[in-house]
Amino acid sequence: MAEQKAYVVAVVNQKGGVGKTTTAVNLSVCVAEMGHSVILIDGDPQANASSGLGVRLSSGSRSFLSFLQEDGGLPPLVQPIEKLPFWLLPSHASLASFEWSKHDSVFLLANRMPLLKSRCSYVFIDCPPSLGILTLNALVSADAVIIPIQCEYYALEGLSLLLETIRNVRLRWNPTLTVDGIVFTMFDRRNRLAHQVIREVRRHSPFHTYDPPIPRNVRLSEAPSHGLPVILYDPSCAGSRAYRKLAQAFVEKPRSKK
Ligand SMILES: Nc1ncnc2c1ncn2[C@@H]1O[C@H](COP(=O)(O)OP(=O)(O)O)[C@@H](O)[C@H]1O
Ligand SMILES: [Mg+2]
Repeated sequence: MAEQKAYVVAVVNQKGGVGKTTTAVNLSVCVAEMGHSVILIDGDPQANASSGLGVRLSSGSRSFLSFLQEDGGLPPLVQPIEKLPFWLLPSHASLASFEWSKHDSVFLLANRMPLLKSRCSYVFIDCPPSLGILTLNALVSADAVIIPIQCEYYALEGLSLLLETIRNVRLRWNPTLTVDGIVFTMFDRRNRLAHQVIREVRRHSPFHTYDPPIPRNVRLSEAPSHGLPVILYDPSCAGSRAYRKLAQAFVEKPRSKK
């Protein structure tokens, strides 16, 4: 079998609107911009990562869902950005059928993962806002988890359930799953509460917290409607600078080899 060195990261938080997709898209594109080969899996039926990169599949096209359901078969990867070693495994709304199909295998993605790992150095998975079967498939097939946390009052609500889910996945299916780190999103430095959330998490959490926090930046919210990652939409805005720094911190983070 081909050598599989790729590091697989699931971007997970069962809360919606915390910056998972924004982080999955922009972190993975910035890692590719550094010269590393990257595959981003759009693992959410809302398909925001796909549309945010200008990829809109018609319902009959092959997608992440067909890749999961077919036996063998190459992943239908698309390369949305010229000259970057970056590939998207796109989705459309039909992925929702996976959540309520009688398929209850948590291993489908893990079984297919070698086909992706042999093609790149990093795989990122953008997860849906739930702890259902799609997120479980991501957790079972990943080496690690990145948890985006929005710097606001209810930020930590639900975090203990997520951590318990990760512990259960480790016990039952994927003993080497780790938490790679927490990424603070939508940080507004004039807001005292935002500083407080970061302080609280840094004090109490045993996990790595990435620096810098990603600032609230209107360019980050505009870029997807143009089908672009922020570094192509506005290369010098605060959002681009922050995701480039995050990518660098992510790539340079020391990790023990398995
Ligand atoms: N740092 C940020 N600054 C401004 N808007 C942001 C930022 N991060 C995310 N957003 C916006 O907030 C909304 C939710 O973000 P998204 O990444 O889609 O969250 P999730 O995937 O967790 O549901 C989107 O409209 C997105 O454009
Ligand atoms: Mg999302």
